[in-house]
Amino acid sequence: MNVLVTGGAGYIGSHTCVELLEKGYGVVVVDNLVNSSAKSLERVQQIAGKDLAFYEEDVRNRGAMDAIFEKHDIGCVIHFAGLKAVGQSVSMPLEYYDNNLNSTITLCQSMKEHGVRDIVFSSSATVYSGDNTMPLSEAGSRTGMCTNPYGWTKYMCEQILRDTAFSDKDWSIALLRYFNPIGAHPSGLIGEDPRGIPNNLMPFISQVAIGRRDHLSVFGNDYDTHDGTGVRDYIHVVDLARGHVAAIEYMLGHRGESVFNLGTGTGYSVLDMVKAFERVTGQKIPYEIVDRRPGDLATVYASPDKSAQLLGWKAQYNLEDMCRDTWAWQSKNPMGYDS
Ligand code: NAD
Ligand code: WQD
Repeated sequence: MNVLVTGGAGYIGSHTCVELLEKGYGVVVVDNLVNSSAKSLERVQQIAGKDLAFYEEDVRNRGAMDAIFEKHDIGCVIHFAGLKAVGQSVSMPLEYYDNNLNSTITLCQSMKEHGVRDIVFSSSATVYSGDNTMPLSEAGSRTGMCTNPYGWTKYMCEQILRDTAFSDKDWSIALLRYFNPIGAHPSGLIGEDPRGIPNNLMPFISQVAIGRRDHLSVFGNDYDTHDGTGVRDYIHVVDLARGHVAAIEYMLGHRGESVFNLGTGTGYSVLDMVKAFERVTGQKIPYEIVDRRPGDLATVYASPDKSAQLLGWKAQYNLEDMCRDTWAWQSKNPMGYDS
């Protein structure tokens, strides 16, 4: 079966393309490279030893999407394409709503036109409200009350897809809520390559380690956690990628809407991450405690039980693996794909 992967040149998309190719799926990527490099796809093909098809197009371009569906016999879509920087979404809300909502709507219209009804969507733990108790579960935790436009785009795209599946029982949609993806392919050939100053913790730590930044700012040490710093559910990106393959396999036998958390169920603090990275890589990470970052929660982690039961999927990599593979990528590619 051929899988259309939107945003396939990006961080999670590229790792998922590797897993798909290695499982024998044909892969067609559409990406406008707004936040990625086509080099990632060359490396994907190198790792897998197989070719994929790539179109440098915007998913909002209906004509381009129709042409791709006409050219390839697509069985299923994984929709990664989107803008994802929380802070940027606050200053550029219209760009975020335009890109993330219109890409989803255009994609679904084109899918409908071409008889493709299976879609896996990159959602986020950010759709859960901030007032839940942990762990977050698909059925038991509240969603909504998002704190930024990025989060709302994920919430709204979930609703658009849910309504689409409700309107036509032939659709199968899997809403995958990712927790905190980190790490890289163990080969060190592909990984996360943020443009500008990294927003997220792990890319920041690894850029300090390689000497691109002089220290890490730790956003608050007065949270109600074991060491006062924020706790999150970090998941190895290869485990996350395999969750998508499991979702595709699940969808073959199920119609309608399904929602799955992709997390490990274990939380680590910012300082746990710093210490683990130092221990595994031998690199010192100087840090300074600064004020809390607005909008941050003390603790966020998943219940991974539903994914284990229904997808037969469970994260395999541990924190040491995540740190080792992050460093393999960063040290082999100090300036990312521009190295
Ligand atoms: P990424 O920026 O590396 O990948 C997104 C890709 O989509 C990029 O290659 C970008 O060029 C492409 N893209 C964006 N808009 C496009 C458009 N209109 N047309 C075509 N291509 C377009 O981000 P990522 O970390 O790989 O995230 C993938 C998806 O997962 C995103 O939807 C993101 O919101 C979601 N997500 C990410 C995280 C995370 O922490 N990385 C967590 C939860 C959810
Ligand atoms: C993790 C912890 C920070 C950077 C975000 C998005 C979420 C999802 C994943 C897409 C927190 C602390 C961070 C730094 C720090 N993305 N930190 N210094 O905030 O859990 O989630 O990425 O869907 O929507 O909100 O991840 O990596 O930014 O932060 O101390 O320089 O590290 O305060 O406790 P977060 P993160």
